[in-house]
Amino acid sequence: TKKIYILAIESSCDDTSAAVLCNTKVLSNVVATQEIHKQYGGVVPELASRAHQQNIVPVVHQALAKANIDKKQLSAIAFTRGPGLMGSLLVGTSFAKSLALALNIPLIEVNHMEAHILAHFIDDEEMTAPPFPFLGMTISGGHTQIVKVNHYFDMEVLGETLDDAVGEAFDKSAKLMGLPYPGGPLVDKHARKGNPSAFSFPKPKVDGLNFSFSGLKTSILYFLQKHTKNNPNFVQENIDDICASVQHTILEILMEKLDKAAKETGIKHVAIGGGVAANSGIRQRLQDARETKGWTTYIPKFQYCTDNAGMIGIVGYLKFMENQFTDQGIAAKARYAI
Ligand code: KG4
Ligand code: ZN
Repeated sequence: TKKIYILAIESSCDDTSAAVLCNTKVLSNVVATQEIHKQYGGVVPELASRAHQQNIVPVVHQALAKANIDKKQLSAIAFTRGPGLMGSLLVGTSFAKSLALALNIPLIEVNHMEAHILAHFIDDEEMTAPPFPFLGMTISGGHTQIVKVNHYFDMEVLGETLDDAVGEAFDKSAKLMGLPYPGGPLVDKHARKGNPSAFSFPKPKVDGLNFSFSGLKTSILYFLQKHTKNNPNFVQENIDDICASVQHTILEILMEKLDKAAKETGIKHVAIGGGVAANSGIRQRLQDARETKGWTTYIPKFQYCTDNAGMIGIVGYLKFMENQFTDQGIAAKARYAI
């Protein structure tokens, strides 16, 4: 088969990333994480777009160098059009458009949420591609969705969050415990050493396949206020157990809805994606569901869970094969439905 080389650019939030793919194989996948946001306890949009502007050229150079590909060999350029922060998206979009124009090669726009799901089609010895139709659960800092995937570009959103994303629930709970941003991975780390039934938090009652996480944050706030009144060191002394219990509650919410979606659709192929798919607890739950629920489950490698251009590149390749190109008139979209 012909070799198609795609350069992919991702800049929707606070990670600047570039990847080079040869067909479905990722040759390089460079991510520059912006450390600047840590001191603010969350992503500051204006600072994110400035950092993208500084990072994008070196990151692209690194991706090409690591792949050992000259830009003249590229077949097309794929970029994240949305959803995301407008200032951040504009940097990647403008860069991709300019480079495609300069190299006189096709331009391919990519929906970030589709990319989190289609990351499963990256050719990697540690991953298998799910068969259609499958259920995709995208769990990240910005989104929480259960999607029925009929084909690459035929997806239906079955349910999504009505308020906070699941990653936000992790990060905001972590912040209440005094952990630095982004707190998700730290909650995961402490949870591994703690008792998940040490404390209990109420689960929200939400119809259908939708989610809600804002109530959990409030109940954690009250819980911490109550306990620190009697013991100012309560959090430090119980951090592992609190994290394990919070994580347990979040995972119960996710698994209940996933279970419901599987029952309603009769689909037993279940794939996860997004930053929270890096969580060791959810990975274990999905692993266990193979035996307990008879599902076949698909869990991406860590580097393809959190925001990365490799996942943008696979969508670029799939679109290239279907001649789905775009023109220079394309604009970034902060809100962009699947
Ligand atoms: O997909 P992603 O990199 O960016 C968005 O598109 O939002 O997801 C980032 C989110 C953050 O909220 C981060 O705390 C969370 O993923 N996250 C985790 C873990 N690793 C990243 N949450 C729980 N456990 C983890 N191990
Ligand atoms: Zn993402």
